[in-house]
Amino acid sequence: MSKRLTTTAGAPMPTNDTSKTAGERGPVMLDDYQLIEKLAHQNRERIPERVVHAKGWGAQGTFTVTHDITQYTTAKIFSKVGNTCDILSRWSTVAGEMGAADAERDVRGFSIKFYTEEGNWDVVGNNTPIFFIRDPYKFPDFIRTQKRHPMTNLRSPEAMFDFWAAQPESVHQVTILMSDRGIPVNPMHMHGYGSHTYSVWNDKGERHWVKFHFRCQQEIKNYTNDEAERLIGKTRESYQEDLFNAIDEGNFPKWELNIQVMPEEQATTLDFNPFDLTKVWPHDQFPLIPVGMLEFNKNPDNYWQFVENAAYSPSNKIPGIGFSPDKMLQGRVFAYADAHRYRLGTHYEALPANAPKTAVHHYHKDGTMRFFPQMTGHPDAYYEPNQYEESARPDPSVAEPPLRIHGDADRYTQEDKDADYVQPRKLYAEVLDDDERRRLHQNMAAAMGPCSDPVKERWFAVLGRVHPDYEAGVREAVKTAGDDNAIPVTDDTPTQAAE
Ligand code: HEM
Repeated sequence: MSKRLTTTAGAPMPTNDTSKTAGERGPVMLDDYQLIEKLAHQNRERIPERVVHAKGWGAQGTFTVTHDITQYTTAKIFSKVGNTCDILSRWSTVAGEMGAADAERDVRGFSIKFYTEEGNWDVVGNNTPIFFIRDPYKFPDFIRTQKRHPMTNLRSPEAMFDFWAAQPESVHQVTILMSDRGIPVNPMHMHGYGSHTYSVWNDKGERHWVKFHFRCQQEIKNYTNDEAERLIGKTRESYQEDLFNAIDEGNFPKWELNIQVMPEEQATTLDFNPFDLTKVWPHDQFPLIPVGMLEFNKNPDNYWQFVENAAYSPSNKIPGIGFSPDKMLQGRVFAYADAHRYRLGTHYEALPANAPKTAVHHYHKDGTMRFFPQMTGHPDAYYEPNQYEESARPDPSVAEPPLRIHGDADRYTQEDKDADYVQPRKLYAEVLDDDERRRLHQNMAAAMGPCSDPVKERWFAVLGRVHPDYEAGVREAVKTAGDDNAIPVTDDTPTQAAE
């Protein structure tokens, strides 16, 4: 039997398609409040899209601990093999707006919310182990170059390569972006990385530095530029379709959580900075240690409620897991919660996607959409400290061991170091094979084709410092691509008037 349609205030509605008019043909009467309500609601159906990573796809699932890592961390979720918790993922592209095509060449966001018994732990990473920059000061400028030009309102390769050429530490990430890994066929066929160095501590108060890796249990698959262009001509929503249908048909994607671990003191003795987000930790020195399995087995009942409303933040951590001196991480610890208060509202943590699945007790108070009861444990305890036994109190036993800081607080100049070229050089010369290098040259040439000559030359100089063959290969590919990048206007080119 159908349900009775009601107003938002619960009163039964006589109609949902005919306005109340003064005469048979109108005008509409102002007291047709439900018509006004319906139009007003539609006007409020949008919130600001995420300033970056606006286009995304999500799923719900379960995390199961498969290996014992209690020697490294006190985090309750890892206290026993077999422990499980619910998880919510959101994968995304970085630069495109909400309506952007899915199969674009871009870094992919890889966010997981673990709803643990000691609160929500968010890993807000990417499908690459590193990033373009290592100082949060540069992030807004970097993102400007990825978004639209203020005058043309078009994406600007000139701005992208101009910025990258001035930030040589970006060449490692740009190499990955322009490689075969730059266009995964969908989120189910790529690895994920926490990217930053985090820390964990054990019950003896010993700290280790860690990196989180999500190893894809499906085959790694990517599109070439041509394949992606053809696909986007047919559908702009290929990721949403692939992901939703796979889960709907019971083909649940899985990732294995692994960690790389470094004892606290070792960080001071390495020949690279382990807190520099533009560097990987070599796997032969820091092997992957398996921890658990993530399985995504449920499509959210409502995309908006669980994927659009999802508020991920590197600041969401649980006892046993901490930050590191990584400057970028500190910038992000501030930026995300601030973005959520603006995008979703003050009490965004109380929305179903973000609400912890454990008891919550805090003294934050009122504001818009304050729809939850007092969380302090006692009606008279609206401040802390207080005299009421049952009220919520801090628990010093979960305190993090002190973070040892070396050196004086200062701004250190960004030197142009050869260290920035070592890892990309290894990637280019030792990891990629000839075919992969050829495609890298071509992809990069296609991306930088529209740039001015001075910007091209500055970027070639960066590539030359990575490896002379890299510079020569991309130079050649740019020359060969020649005018292919220009869109020819012919008599057959449709115009507005002709249509
Ligand atoms: C200082 C550097 C950075 C700043 C200030 C920053 C800021 C932001 C902001 C404001 C958002 C939108 C949040 C929202 O409205 O929900 C966002 C989204 C995101 N960022 Fe960053 N970001 C930085 C670096 C990074 C890095 C290094 C990574 C990956 C390693 C990353 C991965 C993501 C992901 C995956 C999302 C989308 C989260 C989701 O699915 O909702 N960001 N970032």
